[in-house]
Parts: sequence; structure tokens; C-alpha cells
Amino acid sequence: MKKRWQHCHAASMAGGRYSIIEDAALVTEGAHIVWIGPRAELPAGDYGETVDLGGAWLTPGLIDCHTHLVFGGDRSAEFEQRLEGVSYAEIAAAGGGIASTVRATREASEGELLTGALLRARQLLREGVTTLEVKSGYGLSLAAERKMLRVIRRLGELLPVTVRSTCLAAHALPPEFAGRADAYIDLVCAEILPQLASEGLVDAVDAFCEHLGFSPAQVERVFQCAGELGLPIKLHAEQLSSLHGSSLAARYGALSADHLEFMDESDAQAMAAAGSVAVLLPGAFYCLRETQLPPIDLLRRHGVAMAIASDLNPGTSPALSLRLMMNMACTLFRMTPEEALAGVTLHAAQALGLGHSHGSLEVGKVADFVAWDIARPAELAYWLGGELGKRVIRHAEELTDV
Ligand code: NIG
Ligand code: FE
Repeated sequence: MKKRWQHCHAASMAGGRYSIIEDAALVTEGAHIVWIGPRAELPAGDYGETVDLGGAWLTPGLIDCHTHLVFGGDRSAEFEQRLEGVSYAEIAAAGGGIASTVRATREASEGELLTGALLRARQLLREGVTTLEVKSGYGLSLAAERKMLRVIRRLGELLPVTVRSTCLAAHALPPEFAGRADAYIDLVCAEILPQLASEGLVDAVDAFCEHLGFSPAQVERVFQCAGELGLPIKLHAEQLSSLHGSSLAARYGALSADHLEFMDESDAQAMAAAGSVAVLLPGAFYCLRETQLPPIDLLRRHGVAMAIASDLNPGTSPALSLRLMMNMACTLFRMTPEEALAGVTLHAAQALGLGHSHGSLEVGKVADFVAWDIARPAELAYWLGGELGKRVIRHAEELTDV
């Protein structure tokens, strides 16, 4: 059935950039958009239903393209330690950090992990998120990574959201492999990734390229394995130091490289050439009280698409609001509200390999959109959190209860 949606304006992001249609109309059929444009140009015809959007601003459904929202335990005690001046690296070296979440995640049942993840995912959905990426990486064994990925798949079945799962088995060295990082990468490549991929649990592969994580040579082996399995790749790179992981990721055709505070011009050039998206994570920057800003001007100059995500995780970014991340991207990183909106729609879709179907309001794309009760799109980045009046439409159906 065709539906006509009107009495609205649209920040459609059509044509791969921030673009606006005043007094817009949109027509959906099934789950897709079949027409969008100025209402005055809407073809006459037989529309089964007409929805009055009350003068709202439409945007594509928001996309959080980098989260770690499945985990056991919490790390509020580390938050207190960091406030007393202990660094993230020092906490990790003392057996805390990612390792402490690995312990709690291994101990948790699938049901317990699901309960916590549902709570956190719902927070994002209430803000208009209609597509969500979630990473594993707190299991670090075949069984525990499988447990996380199964929970990630369940989220997509239980909630009205499109979920992409990323296997981040190369996130940290599990304690039983202390001093044997290469042997753990052997296990990741020989067993964990191939097995979990064969079970249909993996949409993409990620790794943490850092002194705290894995070396570029080790990450490269993970990328080769992902390539053999036909899986797209992403990378946590240049968060705390420059190892040129982002260049490496680009060489392997990565969908994205994420964090990037310490990237340089050669990395930006490599990412531009590969079409890899720069996923910027202001929540982690803020929580770690980093001072090295990601080089936004370089990324702009080289035409690298910039996405923004919550990085929702228990350690470095317990961020339950993607709109707050938009605000932080503007205030801390000096991005414009238009760039911030593109960062959680158009470019976030690209970072998930969903650019053909999601991220903008265009004919042929999925009818996932939010009708915001705001006067200007910049308001989405302006308010610090809180709940804005809105209606969320997913697959051309209005969601009534998230
Ligand atoms: O994206 N950088 C590595 N991984 C996460 C943090 C994970 C954690 O501290 O639990 C991140 O910031
Ligand atoms: Fe992350």
C-alpha cells in the first residue's frame, strides 16, 4: 500500500550531502521510499493513507555505527580512579580496563547479557536510532565471542532496529594468552572468525590497533583472514598513538577506521583513496579527557566522509545518547551541525556498508525516518541530551512503543 507523508520539511541528505526540501512530501510503498520532493510537485494519484506530520522536520533514522553495548558488569569504579588521575593505560596495565569487562562478560549468562544490552539499546532507540552496530570483543574465546554475537543478533529480533554485528575478537589479549599475542591471533584467524562467520553471526570484522591492543602486523593477519571469509573490515586506529593503522585499514579497503585522534595526512590520503569512512567518537575523547583532537580539517580537505558514533562501552564511553555525541562533535571537534547530522545518517550508513539502502531519504531506500518537533535541523546537535518531541518511522510504519 502506498502512503503519503506530508506537512513537513526534510533534511534528506540526498545526493551524498546535507540537503534540504522545504514543504516536502514523501511517498512510501511497502518498506521503501518511492517518491520524495517538494509537496507542490507530488504527483496526483491514489494514496491508501495520508499522514499529516504537523510541520515536523524529517531526517533519516539515526544510525549509531560503533557501539560495544553488550557487556557484563560496569566500570564506574574506574571512572572514579580516572578522576583521581590514574590513566586508562595504567588501569589496563593493572588488569582493569577491557580485561575487567572480559571477566564480567565471560561470567554472565546469555540472558543476563541480553537484559543489559536491551536496556542500553532502548535508550538509543528512544532518540530516533533505527540502525545500530554492535561489536563483540569482551569474550575473547570462541564460546564467549559466540555468546556476545548471539545476543547482538537477538537485539535485532527483539527490537525495531536494524542491527549489524561486528566481530572484535582482536580487541585485547585474553589473560590465558598473556605474552603470546601471536598465538592468540592464530586462534582468531584459524578458529574464532571462520567458525563464527560460518554460523552467520558476523557482518564485519574489527580489531584494536594500539600498543594496548594489537600491532599493525597482527591486525594485518586478521584483515587477511576476514578477506578470505569475504567479510568487510573496520579498525580502532590512532586512538592513543600513531601506528598508521588507519592507512593499513584503507589498504585493505576498510569500511571505516575509527577514533583517529592521532592520524596524520598520509593516513587521511590513504582513507580518501580507499573511500573508508572516518568514524569519530567524541564520547571516548571526552571521557578520557584527551587533548589531541582528530584532525577534522585534514579529513575535510581530503574529502574523507566523517561519521559520529557513541562508542557506547563500559570503559571509555558510557554514552547513552547519540544526539549528545552530535553536540560534542560540534563543541569539542568543531564540526558543523550539518556535518554532525551527516555523521549519524549518511556517513554512518556508509561506515556499515549500508550506503545503498540507508542513511538518506531517497527513492529506493528504506523508509526509516524521524519526524522531529524542531524549528531547525541544527537543534538536533544543539540540545544536550534530553528527549525531543518526535515520531519515529521504521520501514514506513510509525513506532508506537520502543
Ligand atoms: O572503542 N579502544 C578500544 N575499545 C573501546 C574501549 C573498550 C573498553 O575500554 O572497554 C573503545 O574505546
Ligand atoms: Fe570502540
